[in-house]
Amino acid sequence: MSETDEVKKKGSYDVYDYVFSLEEQLKSLHIEKQMSAARIGQLQIDMERLRKEIAELKNPPLVIGTIAEVLPNGTAIVKNTNGMEFLVSSMKGFETELEAGKRVAMNQRTLVITQVLPEIKDWRVSSMEVIEKPKITFENIGGLTDQIRELEEAVILPLLNPKGYSDLGIDPPSGVLLHGAPGTGKTLLAKAVANKTNSTFISLSGSDLVRKYIGEGSRLVKDVFKLAVEKKPSIIFIDEIDAVGSHRYATSNGDREVQRTLMQLLAEMDGFDEVEGVKIIGATNRLDMLDHALLRPGRFDRLIEVPGPDEKSREKIFEIHTSKMKLDSNVLVNELATLTEGFTGADVKSVCTEAGMFALRENKKKISLKHFNEAIQKVTKKPEEDLAPRDKMFA
Ligand SMILES: Nc1ncnc2c1ncn2[C@@H]1O[C@H](COP(=O)(O)OP(=O)(O)O)[C@@H](O)[C@H]1O
Ligand SMILES: [Mg+2]
Repeated sequence: MSETDEVKKKGSYDVYDYVFSLEEQLKSLHIEKQMSAARIGQLQIDMERLRKEIAELKNPPLVIGTIAEVLPNGTAIVKNTNGMEFLVSSMKGFETELEAGKRVAMNQRTLVITQVLPEIKDWRVSSMEVIEKPKITFENIGGLTDQIRELEEAVILPLLNPKGYSDLGIDPPSGVLLHGAPGTGKTLLAKAVANKTNSTFISLSGSDLVRKYIGEGSRLVKDVFKLAVEKKPSIIFIDEIDAVGSHRYATSNGDREVQRTLMQLLAEMDGFDEVEGVKIIGATNRLDMLDHALLRPGRFDRLIEVPGPDEKSREKIFEIHTSKMKLDSNVLVNELATLTEGFTGADVKSVCTEAGMFALRENKKKISLKHFNEAIQKVTKKPEEDLAPRDKMFA
């Protein structure tokens, strides 16, 4: 073998080695590729799972709360609408948006903040109803003649003729409280009073005051009274007043917020004696629950009970609510009244609406007694039993 052959052979060995090492490298790269592919697969599964989790976190219904304090690392103390405080974290990307006083939506289960809600533009407007002059008149109300007479004395005459009272040296009642079961016509009465006196009707609900506007309740009360003076003559109607002034909250562990709202309301009422042209009407179906502070002289010092309608009144209410309906000649309102023992005014109204629906379903031009009978059946079987426990839970 010559020297050059030797070199050639050695060179070819090197190439073999090189090729061999490249093949080895290729093999390991293949393995690496397979492992990466497996990892990608795993990550894709993870991603899918996380995506689902995000979707679920964002899924309604969400719990609404108000930020009380922002803490580091995207956490915050949030107060829910019942006044309870929670230390919660927020989803990535919201840290900078967190700000005390802002409303947020939270996942029901984890209470993780998933949305920062826009501010309520005009929360005054969204929280109270202002009607320049309600269309409801006393003619739209069946029965309740004693109640109407009392309102006449306590609210209507003092509004229409304040001088008459002061000349005689008598103080009309400060505030009138209508109490009675739901659907008996309390709101209706208050609206009719506003109509009769050409007053602006400003209504707000006690449960809204304490549930919706945490920290705003007392401000809202102040604003309502201010607005009432601007727009006088006016009637301030506070529905469900027991939500603000029930003795549950008068105890030491009661909610401070609610307590503050109540105090503001009492203060406004106390300072209101001398203001002419504004009257306050409250309504409740839980008189037994009411804080006695609300009932002291100078506050809601005239109680008017609004009972359910008797037969004669139901007849009148049927007359009112069927006045625009096309009735078959076999429909007699006095008969309907006998058939609806124990029904409230609101129930009677439902019966009329339902009867109309039954006739509509049968393509009838007129509503007959049969439709009313079906409607009475339906309204009698209203799912009150089912609703009661849930209502209690939220109460
Ligand atoms: N005495 C009544 N006369 C006519 N309609 C009534 C009467 N009571 C209740 N209604 C009907 O029932 C509805 C609900 O009444 P509402 O005044 O809101 O009751 P409350 O405020 O006592 O819960 C009214 O809009 C009206 O259609
Ligand atoms: Mg009402």
